[in-house]
Amino acid sequence: MEVHLTPADLRVAMERDVRRGLDSSPKELPPVYFYDDRGSRLFDEITRLPEYYPTRAERAILEQHGRDIARTAGASILVELGAGTCDKSRVILDAMRDEGLLGGFAPLDVSDTTLWEAVSALAVEYPGVAMTAVVGDFHEHLACLPREGVRLFAFLGGTIGNLDPTQRQGFYADLLADMLPGDHLLLGCDLIKDPARLIAAYDDAQGVTAEFNRNVLHVINAELGADFDVDRFIHQARWNAEDHRIEMWLECAEATTVEISDLGLRIEFAAGEAMRTEISTKFDPEDLRRELDASGFAVESSWFSPGDDFLLTLATPK
Ligand code: AVJ
Repeated sequence: MEVHLTPADLRVAMERDVRRGLDSSPKELPPVYFYDDRGSRLFDEITRLPEYYPTRAERAILEQHGRDIARTAGASILVELGAGTCDKSRVILDAMRDEGLLGGFAPLDVSDTTLWEAVSALAVEYPGVAMTAVVGDFHEHLACLPREGVRLFAFLGGTIGNLDPTQRQGFYADLLADMLPGDHLLLGCDLIKDPARLIAAYDDAQGVTAEFNRNVLHVINAELGADFDVDRFIHQARWNAEDHRIEMWLECAEATTVEISDLGLRIEFAAGEAMRTEISTKFDPEDLRRELDASGFAVESSWFSPGDDFLLTLATPK
């Protein structure tokens, strides 16, 4: 396993992000800090909730069209950005193997323990397949990925939706700068649909998403010595129709002061003030195609999930 992002690097980035986010108006925190061990477990639980359709929808596409995707991409190396538990990687790896193409797997993730466990298991299940796990960030460590062989870059789950249009442009540009001719991008995007279904998916009846949302405060308390009174913050999932995205917020019912001792900061929350913790953009398929095209990618194929909830797009540098 190659480690390009050490706990010390993560800490520096977190200090910077939290300082910047709590200084802006409205206050915001980047979603990457949901995922400590507890947050990763909560997210895993979310993917199995009856209301949360994206994971099942994307898996259905991969199971139905995996071989078609593998054949069209013609890649021997699967690079997975934000691989997490590598659950979905297996479906793609199997498809690549069935097509006689599979040579290597290179997952990239910020969480070293999750990645290590996943890759250790995969190394046993896929003997003879070269595994290069990279602990890193897809904004900074693309250049650390293996460069031999034709590569399929998978960015799944709809995580691209965490980025706003400007951030997405930066992401596509970084990716293109690192991609070689013949490489492919497999992009998973959640699609615009009935807001009631979207809100239910981000505000489930069991309250798992609420716990996941509040977990970012536990993380900041533990990492930066903050004293957020977590139970005072109420989970909200809002549909922003103009920017076609779900936004998660944490609303503070009463006025509160929070101390973040490691940053030497004292932050005031007014009664009813809310802080944005995540955007989850939902796409229109035509807009997505135009966005990729304008960013230097040619779309080769795309696959809808049953019921058109979710879209997988295969694109290549122009
Ligand atoms: C992992 C970013 C794809 O946006 O749907 C799930 C995270 N947030 N429930 C998403 C999430 C609330 C998820 N992604």
